[in-house]
Amino acid sequence: MSKKLLVVACGIIAAVVMVSGLGLRADEFTKDDVDRYQDEFMSVVEKGRKLWGSGDLGTNGVACGQCHPNAANTHPETYPKFQKQLGRVIVFGEMMNWCLQQPLEGQPLALDDPDLIAMEAYARWERRGVALAPGKH
Ligand code: HEC
Repeated sequence: MSKKLLVVACGIIAAVVMVSGLGLRADEFTKDDVDRYQDEFMSVVEKGRKLWGSGDLGTNGVACGQCHPNAANTHPETYPKFQKQLGRVIVFGEMMNWCLQQPLEGQPLALDDPDLIAMEAYARWERRGVALAPGKH
């Protein structure tokens, strides 16, 4: 290898090391950060808990929690999976929307709607510790 090539190669390696080093530093957080992230998360879980019990999500006064108390029998850990109602592999939010439209006779929410995210956070929090089983029926 010529001297010039060697210098260029060293430059590239140094740049990669620097960039990955910066990446590492960006991932570091303090205990205060972690506490704040956890508080933020739990406030969203709490919002989701209320939505699961709300009769105002759909149009007929029915609440998700009437059939799924504590988000029971919703199996978020099995998503994505094939659901015959939609005829394809779907994410959890699409199945929540299916129930939102059928038993609750409501309008589906966008998959990034904060309400749908809160409801997913609540269902997954209730199932925390259960092993992931994507695709399982
Ligand atoms: C009237 C009863 C009823 C209500 C109310 C209801 N569901 Fe369901 N839900 C069902 C039934 C029955 C199934 C099973 C459908 C199937 O798997 O064939 C189901 C399935 C689901 C599943 C998929 C479960 C799995 O094992 O994959 C999710 C997620 C879900 N419901 C979320 C909701 C949400 C969110 C709401 C409120 C918007 C809601 N449900 C309201 C009866 C209900």
